[in-house]
Amino acid sequence: MIYFDNAATSFPKPSVVYDSMMEGMKEFGANPGRSGHRSAIEAGKKIFETREAIAGLFNIADPMNLVFTFNCTESLNIGIKGILSEGDHVITTSMEHNSVLRPIMVLENLGVEATIIDGDAMGRIDPAHIKNSIRKNTKLIVTTHISNLTGTILPIEDIGDIAREKGIYYLVDGAQSAGVYDIDIGKLNIDMLAFPGHKGLLGPQGTGGLYIAEDLDLKEMMHGGTGSTSHLLEQPDIRPDRYESGTLNGPGIIGLGAGVRYILDEGMENIRKHEEELTEHFIEGITGLDKVSAYGPLDTRYQAAVVSINIGDLDSSELSYILDQKYGIEVRSGLHCAPLAHKTIGTFERGTVRFSFGPFNTHEEIESAIKAIGEISKEV
Ligand code: ALA
Repeated sequence: MIYFDNAATSFPKPSVVYDSMMEGMKEFGANPGRSGHRSAIEAGKKIFETREAIAGLFNIADPMNLVFTFNCTESLNIGIKGILSEGDHVITTSMEHNSVLRPIMVLENLGVEATIIDGDAMGRIDPAHIKNSIRKNTKLIVTTHISNLTGTILPIEDIGDIAREKGIYYLVDGAQSAGVYDIDIGKLNIDMLAFPGHKGLLGPQGTGGLYIAEDLDLKEMMHGGTGSTSHLLEQPDIRPDRYESGTLNGPGIIGLGAGVRYILDEGMENIRKHEEELTEHFIEGITGLDKVSAYGPLDTRYQAAVVSINIGDLDSSELSYILDQKYGIEVRSGLHCAPLAHKTIGTFERGTVRFSFGPFNTHEEIESAIKAIGEISKEV
């Protein structure tokens, strides 16, 4: 089996991730931040270590400004719904995942104004279009860092500069970049960074996080037990408790910490370089194959390890079925929860087949995929 669906979730994980989760469950599987016994304290310590490790990765000065969630979608919901109210204006792009677009659509029905900036056929966004769309009531800009459809890398530094200059909050969706691409929240002027734990950060599913700038008074979405200020009926306003009601995914967060430490040990740059080389190999191998259409910039200076293709008129789900059943290659087909991105690149009707590479993929696997695509393209 060849797994090329790392944009959906990375697999496999480093073995230290599995081991640390199991250890966390077997050795000190208590509820962190609640009771005062030694197992609870140990669990709390491990969770803080993950918070610190991730804060270090994104250059977040105070780890308490990093909130754990259950996935990137939850993080984006907190970020988007927590800041916008009736009468506010938000700017986003056509390259976004539904986890950005759907919360914005909900808010539009409640009187929030939205502008969606169109990308070009390669999924690229021109920051000037964002700048020109700013209104007096623009409160937030939300963009992805990397498209989950085309792998296109968005100019988040330029967009961050615009946000800083205009005094607008900037929320970045790091779903496809966190753990692989450098994200320095200060340098990039990011006020909120939403990320999954289970993709580039190599943690398990059920983990994610949101960085919230110190000065940002974001409304919380969930209310409940936090293990702190329990004498009060109101939600505490201390961080991270304000945004972390209920029992955390302790084993998951411990595994996520092991994933982050693995990345730091290996070197994020080395992992990225490996993924870039795999992507270049794949692009080179499929370019020029008869009937194969590939989307995005097709250049790793502007594209991450995500490549969408189609072959002839073959339906994308049929193509992914053949790849799986005949060649043992696992990819994702269809619309990838990004309908506007498909409209942007002209594949809304049929979708695409998406190959996404991770740290454990090999050049041999890429060769097998190129060969399979070549064979299928001769048969359609
Ligand atoms: N957002 C994930 C993807 O693009 C699940 O596949």
